[in-house]
Amino acid sequence: MLRAILVFVLCLGMWPALADAQDAAGDRAATGGAQTLEDIMARQRGEEVAPKTGDAAGAARDLSGQLGTLGGASDPDLWRALRYGSADITVSSGGEVATVLVQDGGMAWLQFRQGPLAKYGGYLLLGTIALLVVFFVLRGRVKLDYEKTGRTVTRFKSFERASHWLLAGSFILLGITGLLTLFGRMFIAPYISKEFNATLLMASKYIHNNVAWAFIVALVAIFVLWVWHNIPNRTDITWFAQAGGIIGSKHPPAKKFNGGQKIIFWSVILLGGSISLSGVSLLFPFEFPMFMKTFDLMRSVGIESLPIYGPLPEGLAPHEEMQYAQAWHAIVAFVLMAIIIAHIYIGSVGMEGAYDAMGTGEVDEAWARQHHSLWLEELEAKGKAAPKDATPAE
Ligand code: HEM
Repeated sequence: MLRAILVFVLCLGMWPALADAQDAAGDRAATGGAQTLEDIMARQRGEEVAPKTGDAAGAARDLSGQLGTLGGASDPDLWRALRYGSADITVSSGGEVATVLVQDGGMAWLQFRQGPLAKYGGYLLLGTIALLVVFFVLRGRVKLDYEKTGRTVTRFKSFERASHWLLAGSFILLGITGLLTLFGRMFIAPYISKEFNATLLMASKYIHNNVAWAFIVALVAIFVLWVWHNIPNRTDITWFAQAGGIIGSKHPPAKKFNGGQKIIFWSVILLGGSISLSGVSLLFPFEFPMFMKTFDLMRSVGIESLPIYGPLPEGLAPHEEMQYAQAWHAIVAFVLMAIIIAHIYIGSVGMEGAYDAMGTGEVDEAWARQHHSLWLEELEAKGKAAPKDATPAE
């Protein structure tokens, strides 16, 4: 009750000021042509307010006091200094970051994010899907050449499969929420609604920032579990020379992982690792800036500039650190998403029997002989698979 009375009294006190402002609506003589309180209120109500320009001299003449010593006059030198980071600013808290009032590089970053990043990133994903569709139409599913034996060998234990699915599940969630964050304003807000897009973005950000940790944990697990099997060796040369048997009908010998799978593995580890690092840097930009250190390191080994980009920047403000981290994070993520789309294709519709390896963990010996003959021979030698000419299981 007391609070209501207080609000009422306050409103009464402010009434003359509000009434004055409303009287002046449409007449800007009092502000020398600058916007009035009524303009501000109208804009807040979502109404269209025409820009009030054209009487800078009037603004400077009539406004004094409330805008400081220069009144309504502009101070281009000061604004230029603020824009390019050369103004002499002292802050009492917030450190160096708080001295950046205008960050000019932000515009270039924004244009890059809305322009080439979204455009070429989108083309890359759609192009990859289109290529796979064409490939599927021309080549069809990679079929089993041998008769199924009915005997299976264990390809991946449950911990390996759980780690793979944690990696896959988290990556897919991160990919979808990342794409919504980049493309929502372009494709969802104008066609569905801004409110729906805003809700989707809030959810996306929440999911993206938290699921990232699951991806990092799974990445470490997959690295530890499979690195040994992914060290390149001579069999990979034969495998690549025969294009993995996907073109033609021969199936080159391979150990547990063939050359193509090793490419997938190292792409996931290196690109996934780099996406993780730049992501953590984006979450903690002031504690974990990455790019200045990277550029310094590059300069220390004699790399002063990059093709297309030009000279490496020096002395980055935290805001610029975040812009570089975002750009890198997104570019590398697009490349890895394209690679993973191809991986999902070959692990599901593209190859008969492949999914079983990650589904149940067991593959038919016929599949193992066709795609990983050297691995099956190792299992036979260890007594973990029946010899080649054993009779089919009942
Ligand atoms: C629905 C999505 C996915 C399916 C159906 C799938 C399927 C498979 C299958 C069947 C294998 C075993 C291949 C074999 O036995 O030789 C495999 C392996 C693997 N997967 Fe996935 N996967 C999916 C998503 C992912 C994602 C998102 C990642 C990483 C971000 C990933 C990373 C790997 C890696 C590193 C391997 C080992 C190398 C290879 O076989 O290519 N997978 N996956």
